[in-house]
Amino acid sequence: RVVTPIVEAEEEEADDLAGYTSKVTVFFGTQTGTAEGFAKALVEEAKSRYDRVLFKAVDLDNYAADDDHYRLRLKKEKLAIFMLATYGDGEPTDNAARFYKFLTEGGDERGLWLNEMTYAVFGLGNRQYEYFNKVGKVVDEELEKQGAKRLVPCGVGDDDQCIEDDFSAWREQLWPELDTLLRNEDDVAIPSTTTYTAAVSEYRVVIHEKLAKLVEGSFLPVENGGPVVMDMNHPCRAIVAARKELHTPLSDRSCTHLEFDIAATGISYETGDHVGVYAENCHDVVEEAANLLDYSLDTVFSLHTDTEDGTPLPGSLLPPFPTPCTLRTALARYADLQTPPRKAVLAVLAAYTSETSHADRLRHLASLQGKDDYSQYISSCQRTLLEVLADFSSVKLPLGVFFASVAPRLMPRYYSISSSPKFAPTRIHVTCALVHGPSPTGRLFRGVCSTWMKNARSAEEAGDDCSWAPIFVRQSNFKLPADPKIPIVMIGPGTGLAPFRGFLQERAALQDSGEQLGPSVLFFGCRNRNQDFIYERELNGYVSRGTLTNLYVAFSREGATKEYVQHKMQDKASDLWRLLSNGAYLYVCGDAKGMARDVHKMLITIVQTEGNVKEAEAFVKQLQNDGRYLRDVW
Ligand code: 2AM
Repeated sequence: RVVTPIVEAEEEEADDLAGYTSKVTVFFGTQTGTAEGFAKALVEEAKSRYDRVLFKAVDLDNYAADDDHYRLRLKKEKLAIFMLATYGDGEPTDNAARFYKFLTEGGDERGLWLNEMTYAVFGLGNRQYEYFNKVGKVVDEELEKQGAKRLVPCGVGDDDQCIEDDFSAWREQLWPELDTLLRNEDDVAIPSTTTYTAAVSEYRVVIHEKLAKLVEGSFLPVENGGPVVMDMNHPCRAIVAARKELHTPLSDRSCTHLEFDIAATGISYETGDHVGVYAENCHDVVEEAANLLDYSLDTVFSLHTDTEDGTPLPGSLLPPFPTPCTLRTALARYADLQTPPRKAVLAVLAAYTSETSHADRLRHLASLQGKDDYSQYISSCQRTLLEVLADFSSVKLPLGVFFASVAPRLMPRYYSISSSPKFAPTRIHVTCALVHGPSPTGRLFRGVCSTWMKNARSAEEAGDDCSWAPIFVRQSNFKLPADPKIPIVMIGPGTGLAPFRGFLQERAALQDSGEQLGPSVLFFGCRNRNQDFIYERELNGYVSRGTLTNLYVAFSREGATKEYVQHKMQDKASDLWRLLSNGAYLYVCGDAKGMARDVHKMLITIVQTEGNVKEAEAFVKQLQNDGRYLRDVW
């Protein structure tokens, strides 16, 4: 990974501070952009409250190139605010990972080194997950342990409810404390606000009558040689080489096996990594959006962040995607059209209708007082942006507002790679269950990426006309033990099987090269043997050739009662305990809210009953700390 060099950070800071009495840094750790949006909203609001204090939103990854740099720079921060999302299995977001590691490891040796800092943390998480807001809470505690002074209690935003309201409530605690701290420097009396104010920004849009040639430039394969930066901001175009349905025709669901060709891309990966995929919205959704915006899909336009005479638009960022392009491309590739809109978006819509009843209703939904109505109209029925636009048909949005302040960027979807480079060096395999079903509003909900994968045209079927997507690899620590003789236990129902297919491919390759393998056990679960037992032949093949020692499959909808992987684990409790006593590594992949939690409980029970371990929870925790119990869950 190549980190953007920090160019003379200190000089830059001194320049920034000119004309200000002090500064507040608002750090963000963001995955889907919410924490970043909050950080920027906080900065905007602060700007209107304090004239002479510089507030700055800062990406934690760009802040420092290494640990020394974090140490040098953080020590000088007097007032710092952290907006930190928790992701997956209680993990930091990609852009906060280095900071999190730095702060949480070796803090004891550093003593009270942050004693000049006053700080506040707001965490973004989801209560449905086991490690609710872990990252925010841990950072909050660590900062205090390392000498910093807490300004307000750590905020714990819950995305399962309305996280914007949690954020508003936390800000109402923050402002009075900040006022006290900053009053000497900035003598402005500021009333506390209770309504959500949305900053509307707008790109300047130029519609091109005709454009001879459009270049879709941003996803070209990386040249060989030279440093390769490949992350979510630098994806690479990969074609779909192969695709097939994994469920049998008897199943009423669908699961796609898809292979990206990475031969000419410069992309490499390791068994157990994730692939991030930027999919396209499907055609009907794109068409509906263009109708609602009242533009033709063939409109060619470009986005600019300056005015016609070249002066930059106030507060605007770089354009979010490369233009000129057609509205079709912009809507298909870059706009999130299906996520329920946040309150800030409703506040923007209110500004673009001349129908008072619509404007009032939108403003109400966006206000703190409208909490229950927002939750009913938006959250509980998962109403999409397009549905809201259809309901409020008097709203007329300029394209520049739509792309800057209304439609969020379409984010990549992550998949556990289901192949190993030892078996498929030029391919990345993905195993993806179709997400679809009726929404509470009666519409058919279709997951963006799983629908795209299901409908993708492979090179085998369509030749040069095949589908492609910008993709990138994200490293994970879900890795096989370095020594293949160490026993492994894999637990992965449904598409949780994906990384284990990669593990088995890797072990088969090791076997072929003469390595001796330790025992391996796989617990797989599906509904019905003749519907969704994905990769059945392959798995049985691995058992026949000894790559996999035991395969246990739980069929949840064959018998009178549900049988799940954890029940199979219970059946094999003594074997499992023996493997664990022999140093086995344990892997769990799949759904975090139900399966991984239940499997975790079962593991504790097995340690208690089979191993007679009194402190079974502590034992399992230790397995986790030792890196012998790994989870890849979502
Ligand atoms: P079900 O759909 O019949 O409830 C893959 O999705 C398999 O995981 C299915 O057989 C599904 O069963 C099962 N599953 C659902 N919830 C689970 C849980 N909490 N623990 C383990 N398996 C579960």
